[in-house]
Amino acid sequence: MKYPAFRAMPALAALLIAGCAAPPPAPVAAPPGYLDQARDIAATVPANLLTVLTAELNRSGPAGAIEVCRDKAPEMARAASERTGWNVRRASLRNRNPKGVPDAWERGVLERFDTQAAAGVAGSTLETWQVVDEGGRQVFRYAKALPTQALCVQCHGSADKLSEPVKAKLRALYPNDRATGYEPGQIRGALFLKKPI
Ligand code: HEC
Repeated sequence: MKYPAFRAMPALAALLIAGCAAPPPAPVAAPPGYLDQARDIAATVPANLLTVLTAELNRSGPAGAIEVCRDKAPEMARAASERTGWNVRRASLRNRNPKGVPDAWERGVLERFDTQAAAGVAGSTLETWQVVDEGGRQVFRYAKALPTQALCVQCHGSADKLSEPVKAKLRALYPNDRATGYEPGQIRGALFLKKPI
């Protein structure tokens, strides 16, 4: 995954084997600098959120820190979008915020991340990127997995890990919550970035 150029090899082989058949479209390379920019943002945004979340957990406990996740996380993603010109968001196969439903590309990535994590790959190393055609526009898309850490289960774990005040607050704020039942190491979701090329 570190050397996207290598991914062109099967396409090339297919072309040689197919002979005169129409060649498959060659994967579009990312413009210079895009991957580095995306990685920079993906390294910064979750780390900043974790700092704020940890401080609030220490100050007011998990029920009190729910607002940090509800308000600060989307706010920080929005601020990063404005600052960098990239579209930044979080999504999950089992989302809590109704806006966190993945689109088709995101779903494919999240399913792959789940398979890799289940096979023992450390979630913190999982990332991927691709240039995708979106309505005739070429868009560079990037994803970094957000693995469940020990502290996350206070709000995303199984019922026995959630305090009664946390349960009550989640019920009130997120009646359609699907984001519980996670164990440390499982992929809670991903940070998704995109920018037209
Ligand atoms: C204090 C409770 C709390 C803790 C601890 C917590 N979260 Fe969340 N998480 C939430 C809430 C509330 C939301 C919904 C945020 C919103 O409305 O946008 C959320 C949403 C998310 C989302 C967005 C997708 C979705 O389901 O809506 C991801 C990804 C996520 N959390 C990952 C994590 C990870 C990883 C950790 C641990 C590092 C963590 N969370 C710790 C409460 C928490």
